[in-house]
Parts: sequence; C-alpha cells; structure tokens
Amino acid sequence: MKAIIIGATSGIGEALAKELAQRGYKIGITGRRTELLQQLQAQLQPAAKVVIQTMDITCFDKARAGFMHLIEELGGLDLVVINAGVGSYANAWETEFNTIQTNVTGFTAIANAAFHYFAQQKKGHIVGISSLAAERGGSRSPVYNASKAFISNYMDGLRHVSVRKQLHIAITDIRPGFVKTPMTEKNKGMFWIVPAPKAARQIADAIEQQRKIAYISKRWRMVSWILRLLPDALYRKLS
Ligand SMILES: NC(=O)c1ccc[n+]([C@@H]2O[C@H](COP(=O)([O-])OP(=O)(O)OC[C@H]3O[C@@H](n4cnc5c(N)ncnc54)[C@H](OP(=O)(O)O)[C@@H]3O)[C@@H](O)[C@H]2O)c1
Repeated sequence: MKAIIIGATSGIGEALAKELAQRGYKIGITGRRTELLQQLQAQLQPAAKVVIQTMDITCFDKARAGFMHLIEELGGLDLVVINAGVGSYANAWETEFNTIQTNVTGFTAIANAAFHYFAQQKKGHIVGISSLAAERGGSRSPVYNASKAFISNYMDGLRHVSVRKQLHIAITDIRPGFVKTPMTEKNKGMFWIVPAPKAARQIADAIEQQRKIAYISKRWRMVSWILRLLPDALYRKLS
C-alpha cells in the first residue's frame, strides 16, 4: 500500500508516518521543514520506502504539483492523510487569515487533487484530520473551530459524491480531542490527553477499518454528542 501524509514533520503526522511505515506502507511525507523530513526518512529507511517533498500547503499550485510529483515517485497512491494544520488562540487578522489559508484552502487544494486522482483510478482513500472542535463554534479560537467544521463538512460532501458516482473513494474524518504535540504543548486546561504514538495507532486502525468518522480517543464521541446538546449558556462556560 502507498500512502502520502501531508504534514509529517511533527506531532500526529510524524507519529502516523512511523505507524504506517511499521505496518508496511510505502510512504510519501511532506512539510515545510526539509531537515525534519530528511531525519524521519533516515530513521525509517531502509526498513520502509520513504520519499519526501518539501511543501507549503498555502502555496496552493506548488503544493498540488508537489503532491502529484510524490505520487509519481511512489509509483501510485492508495491513501492520502491530510494532517497539516495550524491552531492558535490569537484572533488577530493575520492569524485568522493564516488559519484559513492552511486549514481550509490548503486542505482543499490537496483534497481536490487527491479526489480527482482517485476518481480516475476508481479507488482510493482520503483521510482528513479534523477535530472535536468541528462540532460547535469556540470562543477561544472561532476561526480554528470554523476551519475544522469546514473540513468535516467538506469530507462529508466528498463521501456523497463518491457514493453517488460509484467512485469507490473512501473518506475518513478523524476528530481528535487532545493529543500531546508541539501544537498543544502550551495549552492549558486539557484533559484525557493522548500521546501522539497512541493517537497514530488509533488513526491507523480507523483507516484500515475505513471508518467514516473516528474520534481519538473513542470517549470523545460521547462528549461530542453532549456538546451538541448543551444550551449556549452552559456551552460558553466550557468552550
Ligand atoms: N494536537 C491536538 O490535540 C489536536 C487536536 C485536534 C486536531 N488536531 C489537528 O491535528 C493536525 C496535526 O496537529 P499536531 O497537533 O500534530 O500539530 P503539529 O505538531 O504542530 O504538526 C502540524 C504539522 O502540520 C504541518 N504544517 C503546518 N502548516 C503547514 C503548511 N503551511 N504547509 C505544510 N505543512 C504545514 C507542520 O509541518 P511544517 O511546520 O514542517 O510545515 C506539521 O508537520 C492539525 O490539523 C491539528 O489541527 C490536533
């Protein structure tokens, strides 16, 4: 099996690259930090085949070309995991703009390229790393929650297109709660924190089971259900 992980230089993406390599996948890994890609490649080879592509997903056309180049280097593609994302509690315009460019437009640039590639070969699997934050608006970072809601909704739409047109493209929406990574290391008030390698194992299992939606860990499914039912006044105290 051949997989590309978009955003594999740290945190969940790096752990998932290691997990998929261990499960026998040939992998393509991307990120802006070339030296980290090279380090991970050196760590995983020769046991696994690993190709790298420096990529900034906010340079949309270059990122799409880089994605297609990686597919060529791998000799085909079965699975893409679009993990790259940013999160911040700052709500200055520059931060919100960058969040949209990365989590929304950058995500879509790759998902669109992958969907068209898989549609041609009439099989494939697109996995997006959304978040529990997709469930409702959040007062700490309205743009982050909104960006993840976009990802989950967009993937739901892609799944309907795939089924309606019988394209056999599986779509998996991964919604982590709290995972210990560089992105969350300064966050306060987190609980039920999952180490990145454990999150990666659960994500890889969800991928192999072709789950539609998977919460990381499973207990967040119940929380998400409660979150959606909470009245605004109560929800505001938690979000
Ligand atoms: N940690 C959590 O608790 C948690 C919870 C819910 C959802 N998530 C989601 O999980 C995903 C991974 O987050 P993480 O916690 O593992 O954070 P992380 O350690 O900061 O990793 C983020 C990854 O995204 C890449 N990335 C960011 N901006 C990019 C850009 N413009 N172009 C290309 N790659 C880019 C980074 O690579 P470079 O910097 O090298 O480009 C890095 O590999 C994110 O989508 C995040 O929203 C995380």
